[in-house]
Amino acid sequence: MKRIGILTSGGDAPGMNAAIRAVTRRAIDKGLEVFGINYGYAGLVAGDIFQLTTADVSDRIQRGGTFLHSARYPEFANVEGQLKGIEQLKKFGIDALVVIGGDGSYHGALRLTEHGYNAIGLPGTIDNDIPYTDFTIGFDTAVSTAVDAIDKLRDTATSHERTFVVEVMGRGAGDVALWAGVAGGAQEIVVPERDFDIKEIAKKVTEGREKGNKNMIIVLAEGVMHAQDFMNELDKYGDFQTRATVLGHVQRGGSPTARDRVLASKMGAKAVDLLLEGKGGLAIGIEDNKITSHDILDLFDSKHKPDLSLYDLNESLSR
Ligand code: F6P
Repeated sequence: MKRIGILTSGGDAPGMNAAIRAVTRRAIDKGLEVFGINYGYAGLVAGDIFQLTTADVSDRIQRGGTFLHSARYPEFANVEGQLKGIEQLKKFGIDALVVIGGDGSYHGALRLTEHGYNAIGLPGTIDNDIPYTDFTIGFDTAVSTAVDAIDKLRDTATSHERTFVVEVMGRGAGDVALWAGVAGGAQEIVVPERDFDIKEIAKKVTEGREKGNKNMIIVLAEGVMHAQDFMNELDKYGDFQTRATVLGHVQRGGSPTARDRVLASKMGAKAVDLLLEGKGGLAIGIEDNKITSHDILDLFDSKHKPDLSLYDLNESLSR
């Protein structure tokens, strides 16, 4: 193996640049050449490919986003798209690929491996919704951003004795809500993995107010419902001076935390090492603080499980 390619795909996440840097530097350190592919699988098919040097990845580790850009490209699910991508890999003499992204990106990596091009996936998404890894690259930063926002909202909530419904990202997973909720001292966390009763939440808010609590923060995962709709429902049960705030894409940006940078560096180096061993079709993870790898097929057969002990913990700390 002489040349490897690298691309970022799906929603971006802080720490993707740190991962690109780690893959590039590890590969060059091991005598390989590295090619960056712009705009994920779309760029692969279009041949938007260029050689990366160690200097190209300098001054990147601390930057949010991905300097290789990202795209969602469902067309890569079709064999036609895959064959076009392979044509480009052959044209550039690329023998293997590292893909950084969410589960959609892993499907592409698996297909390439099936076509004879070893590809390895790194979990890059703020949602933390990938099986066989405790944490994904970008999650820690997104949680920190959400907590920072919650802290600020709490200031104004206290001043006006208001209730805030804070909608955080996580299309199908409650991880950001659970972590940001506990770290932000939320009165209530609402996630898709747990049923909730809005009447009960209204009762809790009322009781909290009666106990003299001057502010109420409800952290809501976007996968449950929109903050505005939640607020409208809640307000049917009392006058809580409710306001709804959607944090949105602000959670996807910003300089990655030290934790995300270290995670990205470890995972990036591991991907290169596995490709050098001739392995592909694997997804890198971190489990019990050890870098691991699993067959991508195993990931498709299992479902990510958020740490719901955080939900229970919050229930007992918020009464
Ligand atoms: O997959 C990450 C994620 O941030 C989700 O939490 C969110 O629902 C989605 O991406 C938003 O995607 P887009 O940026 O394409 O609107």
